[in-house]
Amino acid sequence: MQFGETHDAGIPIVGFGTMRLKEEAGAAAILSALRIGYRHLDTAAYYGNEREVGQAMRASGIKREDIFLTTKVRDDKLKADDFARSVDGSLKALDLPFVDLLLIHWPNPHVPMAESIGALNKAKREGLARHIGVANFTVALLDEAMMHTQEPLATNQIEAHPFLDFSKIFTETRRHLLNVTAYCPIARGRVPGNPVLERIGAAHGKTASQASLRWLVQQGIIVIPGSSKPERQKENFEVLDFELTPAEMAEIDGLKRADGRVVNPPQAPKWDV
Ligand SMILES: NC(=O)c1ccc[n+]([C@@H]2O[C@H](COP(=O)([O-])OP(=O)(O)OC[C@H]3O[C@@H](n4cnc5c(N)ncnc54)[C@H](OP(=O)(O)O)[C@@H]3O)[C@@H](O)[C@H]2O)c1
Repeated sequence: MQFGETHDAGIPIVGFGTMRLKEEAGAAAILSALRIGYRHLDTAAYYGNEREVGQAMRASGIKREDIFLTTKVRDDKLKADDFARSVDGSLKALDLPFVDLLLIHWPNPHVPMAESIGALNKAKREGLARHIGVANFTVALLDEAMMHTQEPLATNQIEAHPFLDFSKIFTETRRHLLNVTAYCPIARGRVPGNPVLERIGAAHGKTASQASLRWLVQQGIIVIPGSSKPERQKENFEVLDFELTPAEMAEIDGLKRADGRVVNPPQAPKWDV
């Protein structure tokens, strides 16, 4: 397995997104991903499935230290006391003493950055998270977070796929030496059927989804595709055994659009354009 490019967090570059995987079927799907070979799981307090994630990790029989586990604190829990309670609730649901990576899930303009980043730092100092980071931070928010954090931030988890121009935040995240983690790396199922990605994938005996994921990992971006289906989990995992040519990388670069975002909830910040 390759790892994320920057920082020494050792985050496996192909991870598994667990959003929407809940209850018995969800735990079975997460267990299937671990059996296929994923060693990096992405969950969040908001997903309501930390119990299932913990169950699947134990059922897999894989040593705890061999799985890189991320969870997140939601934006309405960023005040110091709420933050600590959220982390405690996550660890109880997971039935674990610590996670590998703890993220602020979305920024919240009503909580001072010093307070939320301070609470994130405290969780790390208390040994509740081996690494810390942020998600959905814009250039301005990341600059502000960097001024307040005393512990290194390991990643900025952002929406990233071929149909979205994420170049500004990508460059800024790298400038601060954080890993870029791509969520929705196959644009929530919009990638399959795209003629350019289908053709480029087929040239390597691969699918459009694999071409999209490969384009990201070839830039050193960590990907966390999600699927409830074992065959798609396997497909999404098998992206480290081929290489896109510079011309193919450039052609996929050309698919990006300013309005290609698929995740834009009410709590979203004013995105960089
Ligand atoms: N930080 C954040 O704010 C944030 C936001 C969104 C997501 N995330 C994280 O990122 C992870 C991935 O994002 P996502 O699930 O929204 O989007 P995604 O991984 O781009 O796409 C998942 C969707 O595509 C389908 N799919 C998966 N693999 C496929 C394949 N090979 N061919 C065709 N369809 C395929 C899945 O359906 P089936 O299940 O039917 O296969 C599912 O509906 C989440 O699970 C979560 O952990 C984080």
